[in-house]
Amino acid sequence: MEKQALLQEFQERFGRREDECRVFFTPGRVNLIGEYTDFNGGHVFPASLSVGTWAVVRPRQDGIYHFQSTNFDLTVQTEVKSIVYKKEDDWANYPKGVLVELLKLAGEEAARYTGADILFHGNIPNGAGLSSSASIEVLTGMALSKLARFPIDNIELAKLAQRAENKFVGVNCGIMDQFAVAMGKANHAIMLKCDTLDYQYVPVELDGYTIVITNTNKRRGLADSKYNERRAECESGLAILQQSMPGIETLGDISYENWQKYKDTIKDEVVQRRVDHVISENTRVLNATDALKKYDIALFGKLMKQSHESLRELFEVTGQELDVLYEEACKVEGCIGTRMTGAGFGGCNVSVVKNEAVASFKEEVAQHYEDRTGLVPEFYLCDIGDGAKEL
Ligand code: GLA
Repeated sequence: MEKQALLQEFQERFGRREDECRVFFTPGRVNLIGEYTDFNGGHVFPASLSVGTWAVVRPRQDGIYHFQSTNFDLTVQTEVKSIVYKKEDDWANYPKGVLVELLKLAGEEAARYTGADILFHGNIPNGAGLSSSASIEVLTGMALSKLARFPIDNIELAKLAQRAENKFVGVNCGIMDQFAVAMGKANHAIMLKCDTLDYQYVPVELDGYTIVITNTNKRRGLADSKYNERRAECESGLAILQQSMPGIETLGDISYENWQKYKDTIKDEVVQRRVDHVISENTRVLNATDALKKYDIALFGKLMKQSHESLRELFEVTGQELDVLYEEACKVEGCIGTRMTGAGFGGCNVSVVKNEAVASFKEEVAQHYEDRTGLVPEFYLCDIGDGAKEL
């Protein structure tokens, strides 16, 4: 939707007033490699997309926030003094959680948050693991803090949005998604170390190749509880390893060589596999980033495949649909790398495909995937756009 059309939609819903409306945008993201390494203090390598979420905002002076979206039939109203999680508020719990964190951060300046009308509009496929929720969170944080004239830089916004998701929504996610959508840069991926937040932009120049995102279109039921369970398994593995390596603060601090030495101190076979994934995946991110810098697309693709296999065998977050997509993608000539992206349990796959093979990739994968799962996949050609900004 064009900015003008969105502004008009806003005026129709909330009425025309003199006050100036402001418009903000935050993208979705795709992670190229580095899954479940973020909350373990490891590396990730995501890129922000050109699809995303827009918000038109206009201040109010009565302490009330109205949230509406062009995508869903739901109006949520909340008073700045009493913001509580309500299941029936659905997606609007994301902006509410962000508002809670904004008020905490503002402290004595909280009175600057005087209320607002907000209209959201998004074109990120919903529930597909492309960070539509992080996009709404960071967008709300940027829009409302600017309205309150309480400047917060984009890294702080990412951290604040993550806190909202952890505390208000109850998903113990890491920082990857919020950071990627807040800090993205067109045509670049972000190499991020998730405990220190040291980051580097790496140009994504895949001469002759296209990044294709394939949506399983499988609903991500139970994903949040499984996610929190995986996180707890990683934490218990870390606690055991710390007994042999007292200086270690996260699994991301452990080299693959050291892991081999101390692996057997973890007796629980499931926990051992989870940690094995995290530590090997972290090494793969470093190698994949190097490969991309050297234009070694073949090596990059190989590491993507290893990542998927590790997520399937060791971390067990892929599930039938993502595995079928992976298998079918691997069979297509010209598909050089492929893997699940995001939290798994459904959601999307990301593949690197020779330009001239993209059409046959879509055709063959779609047909075999549908035959084997009964679901119809969707394909998006990945266009790496900018991070959160005011328009
Ligand atoms: C989700 C979470 C991220 C990250 C990924 C898995 O997208 O929000 O923090 O843990 O899963 O890599």
